Amino acid sequence: MADQFNVLIICGSLRKGSYNAALTRALPGLAPPGIKFVTAPPIETFPLYNADIQEASGFPPAAEDLATAVRAADAVLFVTPEYNWSMPGVLKNAIDWLSRMKEQPFEGKPVAIQSCSQGPLGGARMQYHWRMSMTFLKAFIFGTPEVFVGNAATKFNKDSLELTDQGTKDAVKAQLAAFVKFISRVKAGA
Ligand SMILES: Cc1cc2nc3c(=O)[nH]c(=O)nc-3n(C[C@H](O)[C@H](O)[C@H](O)COP(=O)(O)O)c2cc1C
Repeated sequence: MADQFNVLIICGSLRKGSYNAALTRALPGLAPPGIKFVTAPPIETFPLYNADIQEASGFPPAAEDLATAVRAADAVLFVTPEYNWSMPGVLKNAIDWLSRMKEQPFEGKPVAIQSCSQGPLGGARMQYHWRMSMTFLKAFIFGTPEVFVGNAATKFNKDSLELTDQGTKDAVKAQLAAFVKFISRVKAGA
């Protein structure tokens, strides 16, 4: 049997009606058999990063939980909106906490990203900022095909938030099919 990889999903939106969260719910139906998704523990309870907190009491339990989940995963998929042309603060804050850990959990981890926005570019500008942070953290960054879900309100059912847009489904499928091969290559050390 071919390998099956656990892929941890970290969503950058906390909103109940989030399009990004809606996209995460569609992923299992669009993934190849080699991917099993795991949802990350919550990131909204992290305190704002402060080195004084870290020195006084170590890492917050929520940050330890996320780090454990990242370490346990074969790969990580970020699904997040763009805020002011960059990453949402809540996501950057979570990454900042994990980045200070001794065994930094993103090092050597295959990572990919998808984004939904209500603007036409689908979060493209944010993705390049995320790529910079992940480069610094020595992750193995998946390249293409990229997934940018622009004008998100037109791509999901208004009431159920089910993903309805065929072009988006095709793009996600293509990315996940390529990502599973990428994970396999990274894990084989190729
Ligand atoms: C603080 C803030 C900043 C935003 N900045 C951007 C932006 O830079 N680019 C963009 O396309 N949309 C921006 N938006 C609109 C988001 O695309 C939209 O709110 C989207 O629905 C957020 O994702 P979600 O539905 O998963 O919560 C911003 C929204 C907020 C609340």
